[in-house]
Amino acid sequence: MCGIVGYIGAREAFPILIEGLKRLEYRGYDSAGVALINSDHEMSIYKEKGKVSNLEQRAVGHDTSGSTGIAHTRWATHGEPSSVNAHPHLSESGRLALVHNGIIENYGNIKEYLTGKGYHFKSSTDTEVLVQLIEFVQQRFHLELGLAVLYALRRVVGAYAIAVLDREHPDEIICARKSSPLVVGIGENNSEYFLASDALPIVGYTKHILYLNDEEVAVIRCGKEITIKNLANSRDQVAPNVHDVDIDLDKLEKGGYPHYMLKEIFEQPRCISDCMRGRLMPSEHRIVLSAIHLHRDRLLNAGRFIIVACGTSWHAGLIGKQMIEQFCQVPVEVEYASEFRYRNPVIRQDDVVIAISQSGETADTLAAFALAKEKGALCFGIVNSVGSSIARASDTGIYIHVGPEIGVASTKAFTGQVTVLTLFALALGHEMGVLSQKLYEEHIEELARIPEKIKQILEHNDYIRDLARTLTYARNTLYMGRGMNYPVALEGALKLKEISYIHAEGYPAAEMKHGPIALVDENMPVVFVATHHRLYKKIISNIQEVIARNGRIIAIVTEGDQEVKALSSFVIEIPETLETLAPLLSVIPLQLIAYHVAVAKGLNVDQPRNLAKSVTVE
Ligand code: F6R
Repeated sequence: MCGIVGYIGAREAFPILIEGLKRLEYRGYDSAGVALINSDHEMSIYKEKGKVSNLEQRAVGHDTSGSTGIAHTRWATHGEPSSVNAHPHLSESGRLALVHNGIIENYGNIKEYLTGKGYHFKSSTDTEVLVQLIEFVQQRFHLELGLAVLYALRRVVGAYAIAVLDREHPDEIICARKSSPLVVGIGENNSEYFLASDALPIVGYTKHILYLNDEEVAVIRCGKEITIKNLANSRDQVAPNVHDVDIDLDKLEKGGYPHYMLKEIFEQPRCISDCMRGRLMPSEHRIVLSAIHLHRDRLLNAGRFIIVACGTSWHAGLIGKQMIEQFCQVPVEVEYASEFRYRNPVIRQDDVVIAISQSGETADTLAAFALAKEKGALCFGIVNSVGSSIARASDTGIYIHVGPEIGVASTKAFTGQVTVLTLFALALGHEMGVLSQKLYEEHIEELARIPEKIKQILEHNDYIRDLARTLTYARNTLYMGRGMNYPVALEGALKLKEISYIHAEGYPAAEMKHGPIALVDENMPVVFVATHHRLYKKIISNIQEVIARNGRIIAIVTEGDQEVKALSSFVIEIPETLETLAPLLSVIPLQLIAYHVAVAKGLNVDQPRNLAKSVTVE
């Protein structure tokens, strides 16, 4: 979703801004733009529909000088993708330029008011209204830009991260946020500042990162300390929240793989080891999670767990539910964050609400979490992005530590989330005395073997690529699983549809008879996740039902399987494992199938159409 980059310092801003926008490309966007001010107080603006490279081309041969600048990648919400709607937007006088992530909900009223005051609007965006409002406030009350932004934002309903430039003051950038992420990188001795929607464009320059909090406005001036004020209090300054981040730049590159998605699929053995490091202690037969020890009483006495999440993270939540219920015998509800937040849900003081999010910035998950906190639940975050909004809103939680995920389709974050949920359910069930020592130790031993088993599956990559080619021409597919493999079927279907644009439905296999079976004919590939567990015989009956209607079966099976193999057009074998841990293995071939189908169709795997990596609007 939209990305912001900004720079102020002694260097030329343009190359830094373009490189920063490229680092944010993974978030998904449809147009890009940049505004620069040079020391003669001249502002240059370039905007272009499509890729950042188009923007770069657009600026060739034009003035890109200036050491102060802001830039943006836009993911259209109000108004089609076009160079007119792309950011930055200018104020009526042309003096102010602004980039914005989020949505200004009351933009209609403000626009009407300003139109009555003689303001003109060129774009169909909500953002243009904001820059005009700031100028209106600045001129009406003769304010410095920082204060004008603060007063203008008090009139705004909605979500925003913004950066504003004033042509008359090339030595400052004003930025602010509410429910949309924004971070500031601080150069040595405050000699330069970098601004971005996340730390990725910044970490190559500095590790000192300031995380703005909601409703804070920051005035950034070269060579000076940042001053931060809260919307509610324009007099007192707020202490800056600076952290040192440790992101390895090498981890942000493709490392020889043609796409980030493939790299991230292949990284999973290492990611899962990283995720378990210091937590899973096979030689001591125990799991150590400080998050549990810090909130032992509340967790051990939880009346219920409510998991809130979206998309792939929601699928991980469905697996977490089964594990927590099985190992801890405490009821678990899994909710779409977007529904939960608007339902006036019943939340009790002894509830623990778990938010699962790769980015830590998903607007709906963040809002669901805030609601839970308001109602007194313990807020437990399972997040990848260190220092993100959800991580900071958590009372406690566990980072999945799988490193930055750049491909829009989530892969390693899913297995990281499932790993953390597994560790959590096992450790808590054991502490509660519900889970037997034998089962606890069996799971610990087997978890330690999972990275190696994933490696074995990845060795089948070429075979899966050939198999995937047979799906290229499919228009519809069904994905079926039962028990722990039902959420895996949902996840496999989501992966296929989001990057290959083939319609895919995930279903619990036994539900098929209640509707979807009507879709099955000789043109319908049906992917069954049919590993060797309790429901194996049941799923064989479901496979038979599809065969009876001429459906074509592709199955994920346990190594050495004969029965399903005999019924299927293709099988992909995965190593034997415990039933509860099967998703960590069975999802891998489904990720590879989706990847190879999309590649065979010549599609943009890492940035599929219409999708954003970090969904910061509701
Ligand atoms: C699918 C995918 C999305 C995300 C969802 C939630 O591959 O990536 O469905 O899982 O947008 O995002 P996070 O986990 O960042 O909250």
